[in-house]
Amino acid sequence: MRQVIGVDIGGTGIKGLVVDEAGTVLAEAARDTDARLGREAILGKLRELVDELRAGGTSAEAVGIATAGRVNVNTGEVVYATDNLPGWQGMQLTEWAAAELGLPAAADNDANAALLGEAWLGVGRGKRDQVMLTLGTGVGGANMAQGLLSRGATWSAGEWGHSVLVPGGRPCNCGRQGCVEQYISGSALVRLAHEMTGRTYNHGRELMADAGKGETAAVQVLERYTSDLARVLANIGVQLDPELIIIGGGVIHDRAIWWPMLTAKLQGEAGLDERIAAAELGNRAGCFGAAKLALTWLQQQR
Ligand code: BGC
Ligand code: NA
Ligand code: ZN
Repeated sequence: MRQVIGVDIGGTGIKGLVVDEAGTVLAEAARDTDARLGREAILGKLRELVDELRAGGTSAEAVGIATAGRVNVNTGEVVYATDNLPGWQGMQLTEWAAAELGLPAAADNDANAALLGEAWLGVGRGKRDQVMLTLGTGVGGANMAQGLLSRGATWSAGEWGHSVLVPGGRPCNCGRQGCVEQYISGSALVRLAHEMTGRTYNHGRELMADAGKGETAAVQVLERYTSDLARVLANIGVQLDPELIIIGGGVIHDRAIWWPMLTAKLQGEAGLDERIAAAELGNRAGCFGAAKLALTWLQQQR
């Protein structure tokens, strides 16, 4: 069976897998990064990660790369990235991989890749009309219609993170004000918690723990957060009427406490409460999807 590498470049880390055509994981590696350090720093980590994945006796024939930003999947170029990924816009990912790693490559937006991964091996298996929303450092989105990923005329289809939720609201890295990302990302949750409770949380997880213990202020933060999230989901539901909306990203790890708040708020939204599901592949969804891109690329070469 053919083997490929799938990597996912995020705001705070890079993850990678070697998988075969059946989706079996043969090797796994990760590196912490800070995307704000710029292009060379990210590429250095990416090279290290791929070297480690290839050192383990696997024989990957291609690499798929998932990244934040808008990616021209025909040319492998990052055509747009916000200010929190300095120097990333214009990056020619597939050319770089061919020249520096000696591997043919395919690239796509990270949320698009996560949806491909979930549709291949996760909760979206067998579904043809489905949406992905990732709640992490940023907010990513992807739409699959009749089994095909919509990418858009300028590669920004599904970028709901930068649709406006609050006119004149919080400034966003993209230059707009009041973007969805500023209210429902994992980073936004931590900031909201600080504003509402006066306490500094290092991670959403600590907030969920407080809410789990019944601390009123923490519960109120999650009520507020889930009402913004429900509004975003309801809008997506109206626009696309998907069979399933998959929610992924760091925020879903400790969802036991807030998931029921969310479904309660979605009742009366055309049955949307029964059409949402947590990503099954966790933070590896983007890597699996990136691997799928690489496998598809290989198949097309036959
Ligand atoms: C970026 C998207 C990306 C998302 C998740 C957003 O800030 O604009 O392209 O998919 O973060 O990483
Ligand atoms: Na996307
Ligand atoms: Zn924005």
